[in-house]
Amino acid sequence: MKQDREKWNSRYTRHDVTIPDPDPFLTENASLLTKGTALDLAAGLGANALFLARSGYGVDAIDISFPALLRLKAEADRLSLDIRPIVADLDTYPVPINRYDLVAIFYFFSPPIMSSIRNCMKRGGLLVCSTYNYRHTSIKPGFTRKYLVPRGGLAPYVHGLDIVLNENEAGEAGNLSRLIARKR
Ligand SMILES: C[S@@+](CC[C@H](N)C(=O)[O-])C[C@H]1O[C@@H](n2cnc3c(N)ncnc32)[C@H](O)[C@@H]1O
Repeated sequence: MKQDREKWNSRYTRHDVTIPDPDPFLTENASLLTKGTALDLAAGLGANALFLARSGYGVDAIDISFPALLRLKAEADRLSLDIRPIVADLDTYPVPINRYDLVAIFYFFSPPIMSSIRNCMKRGGLLVCSTYNYRHTSIKPGFTRKYLVPRGGLAPYVHGLDIVLNENEAGEAGNLSRLIARKR
């Protein structure tokens, strides 16, 4: 969506916005990682894509923001890491089928794309997600509700995957929903 893209582009062109550390939910569960091809969905500046590439994956990093992926690509090239940036709107992008050994989704929640997420995973592939849930409005009252995971958590969105770890109200404020699941 154009409005979203402009909002994120202006953030990612700021010099004080730098590539953060990879998400602790990913690093703390690094023992589950294998190797192969990974997808970082709505990758932003790609902290998690960089971590996955350092862990041995070839990574497709999709985001709607060109400036974000330009910065990620520069960092990946500097570190000689195998990351392929894909500038795309996930509302319409046809995610490839049966391609990925791992899918990471951090701080992006879009129920309509969840069935294509399952389809893009290979058998045995891992999904790792962490994003804000309905409790987040107690910290950020203006946050758009449709981007928040509802009370039931992420499990209802991953039909056909086996849940490895499911935390509905994680983090100090209980405002994170986190899930790891594997495709049968
Ligand atoms: C909160 S940031 C999360 C970035 C990254 N996953 C992380 O955890 O640092 C949300 C990201 O979603 C991207 N985004 C928003 N709407 C999108 C869409 N329709 N298609 C692709 N990316 C989108 C934004 O550009 C932004 O980078």
